[in-house]
Amino acid sequence: MNNFTFYSPTYFVFGKEEENHVGHYVKRFGGTKALVHYGGGSVVRSGLLDRVKKSLEESGISYVELGGVKPNPRSGLVYEGIDLCRKEKVDFVLAVGGGSVIDSSKAIAAGTVYEGDFWDFYQGRPVEKALPIGTILTIAAAGSEGSPDSVITNENGMFKRGASGEGFRPTFSILNPELTQTLPAYQTACGITDIMAHLFERYFTTTSEVEVTDRMIEGLLMAMVHEGPRVIAEPDHYEARANIMWAGMMAHNNSCGVGRVQDWASHDIEHELSALYDCAHGAGLAVVFPAWMRYVYRKDVMRFAQAASRVWGCPMDFANPENTALAGIEAFRNFLKSIGMPTTLGELGARVEDIGQMAHTACFGDARQGAVGGFVKLEEKDVAAILELAAE
Ligand code: NZQ
Ligand code: ZN
Repeated sequence: MNNFTFYSPTYFVFGKEEENHVGHYVKRFGGTKALVHYGGGSVVRSGLLDRVKKSLEESGISYVELGGVKPNPRSGLVYEGIDLCRKEKVDFVLAVGGGSVIDSSKAIAAGTVYEGDFWDFYQGRPVEKALPIGTILTIAAAGSEGSPDSVITNENGMFKRGASGEGFRPTFSILNPELTQTLPAYQTACGITDIMAHLFERYFTTTSEVEVTDRMIEGLLMAMVHEGPRVIAEPDHYEARANIMWAGMMAHNNSCGVGRVQDWASHDIEHELSALYDCAHGAGLAVVFPAWMRYVYRKDVMRFAQAASRVWGCPMDFANPENTALAGIEAFRNFLKSIGMPTTLGELGARVEDIGQMAHTACFGDARQGAVGGFVKLEEKDVAAILELAAE
């Protein structure tokens, strides 16, 4: 195991109706005037936004609103949010929505207290300072409610890039699984895929002797394999929603990623797909991740065979573990299909003619140094080959 630090100060509030106490938590964490940031309207339609405002008013918190965050959130609204926060002297940013809303909130929170261009953070500058952020999560997926990360698309060039830093950890996050019951099945499945991807990005490592985190990841993956089909069949299944929601947080606050090299090439490649085609992040991952696995598994056949055996229950072929490794990759792909995810570029609406451009931008676009991936370092030609596999 490698040396590591782990600091995860977010206060989690989990369960039914907890969003009705949001005013109390904003106050508890020092907010007096909040920016209430939300997306394209689901929180208006569900009545959640009204309940949030009522709770803020009851706690004497004043607020300004900014809606309109799109999936794959854009830089334009971030600049608007920063201006609004400065003008209105906002001291707390409250995200009501999914990963896109939370990431946009994080960018605004950091940009408001930074003199330069907020995009500096998305080119590698660590985020040390930001306004305090609170979240009310409405979709189990990105894990941004507990992560020190944010992903934004810069409309100037359409680069989708991530930023990180302790200043991005939310002060509190409210997780009520009931709020996810209004999700369309497709979005639910995208979330399940993203959660599994966050686990696999950490699982495939060059670090040896990481038994504790291996077993945590395998356990969470098995829970997703169990709960995924239950929630697709029965969208109002509270307990399945609850387990998926907590798994989404656990998968990405890095408690099961500490002390090990992680990969993240599939995410970097997927971000090119969602930047170019504006597809859902989880759907892009469903296409990229199995292809990445097929391309790299020879680097450590035994690790792939271990996942196949422990997570998917594939029989271990001791004479030829490559068979087990491949069976595991196939099981993952079949699982994704079974919950309604696309698994080819064509199903996603992506074009093979764009592969060259995506491979180039993934490796050399804004702030990239010529390669992606920690488990296997991939150059432009490798990324193109993975995207070719994803076309099959
Ligand atoms: O905008 P509204 O109307 O709210 O609709 C959203 C959106 O269309 C809808 N939705 C959310 N909750 C709902 C709902 N519809 C009905 N009922 C509800 N309860 O779902 C759609 C997708 O929302 P979005 O926030 O985009 O989903 P997600 O949470 O998957 O976030 C995706 C973004 O997170 C980034 C992705 O790249 C992508 O931009 N990621 C962020 C990470 C992080 N910050 O740590 C890590 C991830 O790997 C990921 O890259
Ligand atoms: Zn992700």
